[in-house]
Amino acid sequence: MTLTSTPTTLVADAPTLTADASPLATAHSQLTRVVAHLGYDEGLHQMLATPRRETHVAVPLRRDSGETVLFHGFRVQHNVSRGPGKGGLRYHPSVDIDEVRALAMWMTWKCGIVDLPYGGAKGGIGIDPREYSAAELERVTRRYTSEIMPVIGPDTDIMAPDMGTDAQTMAWVMDTYSVNRGFTIPAVVTGKPLAVGGSLGRGTATSAGIVHVTAAALKEADVPLSEVSVAIQGFGKVGGHAATIFADRGARVVAVSDQYGGVRAADGLDVPRLQQHVEATGSVVGFDDADPITNAELLALDVDVLVPAALEGVLDESTAPAVRARWVVEGANGPTTARGDQILADNGVIVVPDVLANAGGVVVSYFEWVQANQTYWWSEQEIAEKLARRMSSAYADVSALARRDGISLRDAALVIGVQRTAEAHETRGLYP
Ligand SMILES: NC(=O)c1ccc[n+]([C@@H]2O[C@H](COP(=O)([O-])OP(=O)(O)OC[C@H]3O[C@@H](n4cnc5c(N)ncnc54)[C@H](O)[C@@H]3O)[C@@H](O)[C@H]2O)c1
Repeated sequence: MTLTSTPTTLVADAPTLTADASPLATAHSQLTRVVAHLGYDEGLHQMLATPRRETHVAVPLRRDSGETVLFHGFRVQHNVSRGPGKGGLRYHPSVDIDEVRALAMWMTWKCGIVDLPYGGAKGGIGIDPREYSAAELERVTRRYTSEIMPVIGPDTDIMAPDMGTDAQTMAWVMDTYSVNRGFTIPAVVTGKPLAVGGSLGRGTATSAGIVHVTAAALKEADVPLSEVSVAIQGFGKVGGHAATIFADRGARVVAVSDQYGGVRAADGLDVPRLQQHVEATGSVVGFDDADPITNAELLALDVDVLVPAALEGVLDESTAPAVRARWVVEGANGPTTARGDQILADNGVIVVPDVLANAGGVVVSYFEWVQANQTYWWSEQEIAEKLARRMSSAYADVSALARRDGISLRDAALVIGVQRTAEAHETRGLYP
């Protein structure tokens, strides 16, 4: 569902996407709150705030035309106290070292919250993948992989798809790494195609996890999923599958959007037909069974559940006051800024935070890695059951702590993630 070429009739619709704080500022301000809550000293705070290792590489590409262009690539391993680094690879023009640092830090807390034996990492290249052919993207991916080969591996740092990358990208990473090592090493990446050791259920795992935690949050208010209306920003790997799963479970998906604009149908969108429209045209825009809507209007719709599943920073001090949803379930990483979060809390909006809500992807990535390491694959049903159990138990832990300490779900989730990381660090001790 990732767009590989820009449909010529579509123009970008991005007036809402100006953050009032960078992702790194948001991540640091969250950590500062949590460290204060836990009463950690400044030394431990600094250790938790600082990436363990950062790699910055030049990625030259010979274009199909023969011209050479250069991109900047990054891999940040934020913390490896609980196990190897784990995190996605993002291709987007706005990727820079600070964004990757923030995303790597969130991965550390996320892996702690769902109790995976991983630390957090993230990678990215400042490239707009829609501007390049598949052959060019393959060359960029292989060059980037060989540049960062010394710091990745199945026991050191394991990649997965993120915005602008997909299963095919992971197959190229896995092949480049394996060819250079001399044998096939499927566990160096997750989210790869089934043909090369991918896991059943990985493609839809993040979205399935979002729906699991939404159902758990609604249950606390005695509201069944089948009675709610849902608006989703972003119709890519996360938002697109979330729309399908919400609709399959009886929720009314009343609006969706992508970078070109959005569509709305008060009685609920016909999601399977919309998927066909997106496959044919590259965007939700122009779907005939619905009215057009902008991204700004979507965020302010009078719905029960709002799922931001595109970029970070979309719910900031200018957009958060207009949110009328009762629940915001964060599919994207960092969609709410610190100011936006405060405004939503003041207005009584319940925010199920990204580090919990979108953790289903890394949970099934973990299952994929375990399967690759044991070279024995589980059935789709086994994976779906294991995912549901892990998401429900993580939600229950977070919700119980939020109630016990009178804090938000975000702070509770972060407290759990940070505490598990700090505990591993302290238990291992400081070397030398
Ligand atoms: N893919 C995963 O498994 C996964 C897991 C956890 C978190 N996430 C996060 O979810 C978010 C989306 O990731 P994805 O994998 O679905 O990416 P994707 O590239 O598949 O899809 C991104 C979607 O966002 C839309 N979008 C881009 N710019 C936009 C804009 N300016 N306004 C409105 N919509 C815009 C795109 O049109 C597309 O529909 C990211 O924050 C990512 O880090 C992804």
